[in-house]
Amino acid sequence: MTILVTGGAGFIGSNFVLEWIAATGEPVVNLDKLTYAGNPANLASLAGDARHRFVRGDIADVPLLERLFAEHRPRAVVHFAAESHVDRSIHGPAPFIDTNVVGTFRLLEASRAWRESLEGEARDAFRFLHVSTDEVYGSLGEGDPAFSETTAYAPNSPYSASKAASDHLVRAYHHTYGFPAVTTNCSNNYGPYQHPEKLIPLVILHVLEGKPLPIYGDGLQVRDWLHVRDHCRAIEQVLLAGRAGETYNVGGQAESTNLDLVRQLAAVLDQCFAKDPLLRRRYPRSPAGQPAGAASLIRHVADRPGHDRRYATSNSKIEREVGFRPEETLKSGLRYTVTWYLEHEDWWRSAMDGRYHEWMKKQYGGLVSF
Ligand code: NAD
Ligand code: DAU
Repeated sequence: MTILVTGGAGFIGSNFVLEWIAATGEPVVNLDKLTYAGNPANLASLAGDARHRFVRGDIADVPLLERLFAEHRPRAVVHFAAESHVDRSIHGPAPFIDTNVVGTFRLLEASRAWRESLEGEARDAFRFLHVSTDEVYGSLGEGDPAFSETTAYAPNSPYSASKAASDHLVRAYHHTYGFPAVTTNCSNNYGPYQHPEKLIPLVILHVLEGKPLPIYGDGLQVRDWLHVRDHCRAIEQVLLAGRAGETYNVGGQAESTNLDLVRQLAAVLDQCFAKDPLLRRRYPRSPAGQPAGAASLIRHVADRPGHDRRYATSNSKIEREVGFRPEETLKSGLRYTVTWYLEHEDWWRSAMDGRYHEWMKKQYGGLVSF
């Protein structure tokens, strides 16, 4: 038995691969193009482990996909590979269409052909799990009920539009060909190995480096935060017990405005600074040289164009049908995440490479001086 994972060198994919192999021992073929977001260091602990076969390649490369299916005979595909950063999709949508739409289409075609070649139980048991996002539902008003699986799609960014397109293809493959696909639409993830361009690692690492914390607009946009470990568990449970053709929302049940979230992170970091003399040397200082809290680094900058105001995701269906509930609270999850970044300085320093600095300059250069 083997599963094929795409995008398994990225943030969520690598957490999934590590947890999957530790929990089940089932081999994984990990297909990843290693874009700027893919980081082989995330998988360093699997070096020499025969249960992990890493293949550098594109999900749109059909001959490669055909070879991988024939050689490894996977019983399931778990599809994470994507361009995932909303801000990058605003600067340049093309790779989002190439990978999220065309790449997913090619992967679906190759997976369908592979399944068609199977017989009996192997064919019946085959599953394709498509990992998607709550952003496909658009933006909620303050008092609106949370997104459910029947909420109409209303994507607002090139990123979410490309994910919505991929969700529609997956849906059509089930409806037309009886292809056994399941889609999960989850809320904002956080935790170990997240690329430092995303809000939570960006804030932690900027505090450690004494750099400003850029808050888009008024900072009162709301996100629902899901610890990546909980998300990986949800995917495992859906793979096991989810019904083909269905979609399942996965939320963290932890709504927060961005400003509150950043203040919570700053408070956790203040406590870490207070306890650790080595860290204390990096403590943010006021212009007069006095120690100032990490929150003193907050700067409001121009808003993200088309910025969605609020996401909130109901877990009713996934809880009812597959028994999933998140375990991590935002408080415990943030504490754990800050500690992880403090303990993995080599990892985040290597992730902040030339491409990262180029991006930071492009995205923030004109807004705030770093
Ligand atoms: P990420 O950007 O950290 O990682 C994406 C991975 O996909 C990288 O390793 C990259 O190299 C790989 N990749 C990109 N294009 C590829 C291609 N053409 N072929 C093969 N590999 C390719 O993303 P993430 O945050 O881990 O997100 C994983 C999935 O979960 C995505 O589909 C994303 O839309 C979805 N999602 C993410 C979040 C979140 O908060 N991060 C929330 C909801 C849904
Ligand atoms: O909801 C799920 C989505 O969550 C996923 O589909 C995406 O792949 C993932 O990147 C994430 O999207 P967001 O745009 O919500 O995540 P990001 O970390 O970029 O931003 C979180 C919020 O913080 C958002 O409201 C924008 C704001 N923000 C972000 C950055 C990077 C800032 O205020 N300042 C910043 O510098």
